Amino acid sequence: MLIFNKQVDLSAHLKSVSAGKTSVGFVPTMGALHQGHLSLLEQSLQDNDITVISIFVNPTQFNNAEDLAKYPRTLESDVAKIEKLNRDIIVFAPSVDDIYEGNTISKHYDFDGLEDQMEGRFRPGHFDGVGTIVQRLFEIVKPNNAYFGQKDFQQLQIVKKMVEKSKLPVNVIGCPIFRESNGLAMSSRNERLSAEERQRAAVIYQTLQTAKIRFGTENATRVAEFVSQTFDNVPGFELEYFEIADEDTLKAISDKNDSKNTRAFIAVFVNKIRLIDTISLN
Ligand code: PAJ
Repeated sequence: MLIFNKQVDLSAHLKSVSAGKTSVGFVPTMGALHQGHLSLLEQSLQDNDITVISIFVNPTQFNNAEDLAKYPRTLESDVAKIEKLNRDIIVFAPSVDDIYEGNTISKHYDFDGLEDQMEGRFRPGHFDGVGTIVQRLFEIVKPNNAYFGQKDFQQLQIVKKMVEKSKLPVNVIGCPIFRESNGLAMSSRNERLSAEERQRAAVIYQTLQTAKIRFGTENATRVAEFVSQTFDNVPGFELEYFEIADEDTLKAISDKNDSKNTRAFIAVFVNKIRLIDTISLN
């Protein structure tokens, strides 16, 4: 299996193999791979001749130093999981220096207001960091197709916006959320939960499912009250936000409107670990 740690080496290799008509699929990740990540790889393998995965814990998208320090780094077992799936997948695992060349800062982006909602409100600078790294990785890998999970729905919309505004020749594909057997959305951060917390975190998706049913007859304010009360009664869990929003603009929606694609978004702290999830309300 091919593993590259330097962008020049990856670029040279891709240039030599992708000349002509080959399509390149790309799955950017921060590692600590789980089935959700692997499902993106499977989709890319199906659609493309070459699949590249990047594993890079991007410092510029963390607004919290402890979250960055504690982010799981498990390259060896990640590579083993990729190899088990398909030995032809190309791994790109660069160092911070190789990517940022001594200048570890973000570019500033205008995503037409998508960056001001939800995650953008609670994680200042986060989407500038995501935009910076994704654009950099797109320049290095030059993919035809790039795969992102709907779990990070706001990120998916922001990457689509960046591609549209910068006119990058990449097709951005959103993929379904993979869940643990109790419904908890898979996340690298789940590794930091205790076994008991991980079991109890099922309440997050259960609450989203109930919110979806309620939004048929109740307005968004009422549904948000229900969600807030639910978490008031779950010891150790703290609701950061719950929003019902238009999928395209990510702006809040107050009443059900069948002509718009609508989605509920949630962020919850379990101890100090921040978990997000989302559900379509259509
Ligand atoms: P990371 O959190 O590692 O996620 C990598 C990709 O996997 C993202 O597109 C994310 O939405 C997707 N993903 C995560 N959990 C998923 C799940 N349960 N089901 C389906 N897909 C899932 O997102 C990032 O890394 C970074 O911000 C990155 C885009 C790599 C830029 O640094």
